[in-house]
Amino acid sequence: MDPCRTKSSRQGVNPVKSAADVTFVMIKPDGVQRGLIGEVISRLEKKGLKLVAAKLECIPEPRVIEQYAEHLEKPFFPSLRAYIMSGPCFLMVWEGRGAVAVVRRLVGTTNPTEADPGTIRGDLALDIGRNVVHASDSETSAEREIALHFRAEEVISYVRTDDAALYE
Ligand code: RTP
Ligand code: MG
Repeated sequence: MDPCRTKSSRQGVNPVKSAADVTFVMIKPDGVQRGLIGEVISRLEKKGLKLVAAKLECIPEPRVIEQYAEHLEKPFFPSLRAYIMSGPCFLMVWEGRGAVAVVRRLVGTTNPTEADPGTIRGDLALDIGRNVVHASDSETSAEREIALHFRAEEVISYVRTDDAALYE
């Protein structure tokens, strides 16, 4: 059996069963500049989530606009676009049971001053305009964002040795 398979061929390999189990996470330029890539990855890994795609990238403007299309008309959009384009981001796909909702809870609320201690934003940030990470807010967003930023062959399906200990 091929130990590394692309997403399209992963059925039957993992305990992951639905679209809710795969999510897009991005460490924003402030997180990259502050050396927080390892910290964020470590928190998601320790939860039991599995990294299935990752890359460091300066996201081109059209993709930033697509990523944040829902905010296009908001007053903060120009500063959000400039922020996301201010340096490289670290883009990831994470897999695990209920990953979309689980990661949103680990990330914390949008405004870091209100985010709970123990969350990424609650522990590592102070400003809504510099809140370290993005995470998909629904299954639909996750599917859209993964397809926006990654080619199918960049998302790797593999069995991790701790899968058997993580899931009943
Ligand atoms: P994200 O999409 O980045 O994961 O954040 P989110 O779901 O928690 O928050 P969302 O409402 O989608 O906002 C997207 C990003 O826009 C910036 N923002 N600034 N100045 C403001 O009032 C304001 N509101 C939002 C933040 O960087 C937020 O994460
Ligand atoms: Mg959002």
